[in-house]
Amino acid sequence: MQNIRNFSIIAHIDHGKSTLADRMLEETHTIEKRKMREQVLDQMDLERERGITIKMQPVRMEYHAEVSSTKVQSSNYILNLIDTPGHIDFSYEVSRALSAVEGAILLVDSTQGVQAQTLSVLELARAQNLVILPVVNKIDLPHAEVERTKDELVRLLGCERESILSVSGKTGEGVAELLQKIVEVIPPPASHLVTSGHQVATLLQALVFDFAYDTHRGVILFLRIFGGELKRNEKLRFTSSGKDFNAIEVGVFRPQEEPTGHLSAGEIGYVVTGIKEPGVARIGDTITSASKPAPALPGFGKPYPVVWASLYPENQNDFVLLRQSLARLSLSDSSLSYEEEASGSLGRGFRAGLLGMLHLEIVSERLRREFNLSLIVASPTITYEVEDLKGKKVKVYSAVHFPDESTYNKVYEPWVHINIITPSRTLGALQALFHEHEVEQTGLENWAGDRINVEGLMPLRELMRNFFDELKSVSSGYASLSYKIGEWRSADIVRLDLMVNDEVIAAFSRVVSRRRVEHEANEAADKLEKLIPRQMIDVKIQAKAMGRIIAARRLSALRKDVTDYLYGGDITRKMKLREKQKKGKKKMQARGSVSIPPDVYLKMTKSDLG
Ligand code: GTP
Repeated sequence: MQNIRNFSIIAHIDHGKSTLADRMLEETHTIEKRKMREQVLDQMDLERERGITIKMQPVRMEYHAEVSSTKVQSSNYILNLIDTPGHIDFSYEVSRALSAVEGAILLVDSTQGVQAQTLSVLELARAQNLVILPVVNKIDLPHAEVERTKDELVRLLGCERESILSVSGKTGEGVAELLQKIVEVIPPPASHLVTSGHQVATLLQALVFDFAYDTHRGVILFLRIFGGELKRNEKLRFTSSGKDFNAIEVGVFRPQEEPTGHLSAGEIGYVVTGIKEPGVARIGDTITSASKPAPALPGFGKPYPVVWASLYPENQNDFVLLRQSLARLSLSDSSLSYEEEASGSLGRGFRAGLLGMLHLEIVSERLRREFNLSLIVASPTITYEVEDLKGKKVKVYSAVHFPDESTYNKVYEPWVHINIITPSRTLGALQALFHEHEVEQTGLENWAGDRINVEGLMPLRELMRNFFDELKSVSSGYASLSYKIGEWRSADIVRLDLMVNDEVIAAFSRVVSRRRVEHEANEAADKLEKLIPRQMIDVKIQAKAMGRIIAARRLSALRKDVTDYLYGGDITRKMKLREKQKKGKKKMQARGSVSIPPDVYLKMTKSDLG
């Protein structure tokens, strides 16, 4: 155990985690140079296309350290790195990765300096009492401001300036020194002794920090062994449910799975379980031996779904396939939750709980690609809590189920703490944006150079209303943002429904702030007017809230000359045809059937949130 170092790289988005991990894999000869490709740990197609890390990826490296100081007494080390995602939606993933390691490299891009998420990931690492190793990255770039970035880190961490390393994940400069430093400053895993009855023994305790799914081998658990040993073919137990299973295969990540037959205390690796049903394997659960069980380790809190959205199959015959696909997807995405729902116009579908708009995009994209499904994604909403007239509180996470004003007493909504780092010259524009989005500023601090760190509180609803994009735009791309969910507060909000020929289209319903209801109603009606293709009949679009129509638009019927094909001038025949058409249209109008193409749902949703 003395020769193991477990660590993670944490940073603001795009500061270069995956690229630095590539250089470490090269330097330690974990991957042969000819097999190396960029961001090799991002294995999902979607990750590679978008250049972002979505899912954490552990990898084990063998490293020959220089026996230089008293701290490094041996030359062979096992370095277990867990690469983590950078986008704010995936901070739950980051906190889980951090629970499996002893140290974290805090990476900062020297052309950008410390950013908002540098602060939030640092907070996560500190919460786990990890040793922090500050590193300045991208020093190869001509506009790198290495010294200034170091100033910021000294100030942030209160560390010695000399303890900060400088690297380039691109050229590999400084990476050898970094590996040596990891061995020196990150402590080896501590041994856990577990008391069982009167005996003190090292019993098996392994934390499930992630999992994946394989069609043939079932659930594959990603484990950090805290105590004892785990062997292939051993009977293991989930401590939360008491369910037993056999360890079909045991091994380590190189980064692909490599069977080793056993894992011992301090190590990070995987176990193939053969389990194919969803819900059995849980993130944060402790795996122990079925014959000599040990108590559970502290797990993780449940992820908080920030956004709920409706997922419907374009073709209702695919409903069962969608259900199976969601079950399968949740076997490799532990932050996804969902339940069945039905909607008048869309049929049967699911309401999914997600960690943010990017997560929603990724989940719908994976359903399309990996399961070949055509989907309608509609009405993303946050959770509200409604207190009825008798004082009973219920959670509502679908705009359609948001009750009429007369039936409730009060509504509560979640607020978030926000952190913005931005150049001080943008403060004026920022304040206007704050007013527009109901932000209460709670702090302002001069950060290094000409930058400021602004703290505030705002409704999650407002954060989701394009706040981030607008922030980027008012700061010409310089501001960075991080947030975390805070307290609940009472809210002045109402439901806004959109009706097409007098029928409420559930997928378009939304909850909006009362002061913005007129604006939102008109905007939504305008948008729908542009999106719905003209039909053979008149289409009436209305936005309704608080029991009245607030905005109305009309799309006139397509005029098709039904007499086109007639030659010559038989006027009575023409009139007859026109009469017939009129009658037909009247009938259609009476039925009011308006066909709304699936992409209209998608386009209406896009601007709703985020
Ligand atoms: P997320 O996982 O999405 O947060 O990204 P990341 O932090 O893993 O960053 P990634 O490694 O994907 O790098 C982001 C961009 O910066 C890519 O275009 C890299 O090529 C570039 N990059 C990373 N490190 C360096 C570096 O040292 N020098 C230069 N010039 N570019 C770098």
